[in-house]
Amino acid sequence: MAIHEDLDRILITEEQIRARVDELGRAITEDYKDDPDPIVLVCILKGSVVFFSDLMRRIDHDCRLDFMIVKSYGAGTESSGNVRFMKDLDNSITGKHVIIVEDIIDSGRTLTFLRNNLITRGAKTLKICTLLDKPDRRSPKADITVDYCGFTIPNEFVVGYGLDYDEKYRNLPEVGVLKPEVYTNV
Ligand code: IMP
Ligand code: MG
Repeated sequence: MAIHEDLDRILITEEQIRARVDELGRAITEDYKDDPDPIVLVCILKGSVVFFSDLMRRIDHDCRLDFMIVKSYGAGTESSGNVRFMKDLDNSITGKHVIIVEDIIDSGRTLTFLRNNLITRGAKTLKICTLLDKPDRRSPKADITVDYCGFTIPNEFVVGYGLDYDEKYRNLPEVGVLKPEVYTNV
């Protein structure tokens, strides 16, 4: 069955995403232009995979890629501060410029843990780039500065462009909101 049928509405279109990813890539290119060192782009799997692959091609700088899988345990759609590494980085980031590429910042707990962990490894600089931000949902315990943000969105659960509901809808090309019955029919 076509997955678009489960969407209540589209929040961000493919065109809007493309234009914004272009801008983010240009901003990152500009910020690092006088630095000969490579940037290590860290993809937080799986949600960031689509954003990551589009963004990296818009950055005109020497970039190296690395991947992490983290699991944040919590009830339902709430994350906890309880984060486990399911896959760690392949390479050392000591002395490197690092940009963490995330799909969405919600409570901010996952990223607070991740950022603090990567800082202890001695990155030269560490920045955060997220496609989506829900600032209204931020936990008081989260301490996050977002360096590059695609879109600030209201407090709604969204899917598509890498984001899932129960592992589904990651391959939608836009970001949308599901029909309420999709949640109640599970
Ligand atoms: P946080 O620790 O609460 O910031 O959780 C961030 C993670 O929760 C993201 O990386 C997503 O995997 C997931 N998440 C939070 N909000 C949404 C949403 O609206 N749609 C899909 N996944 C979400
Ligand atoms: Mg998820």
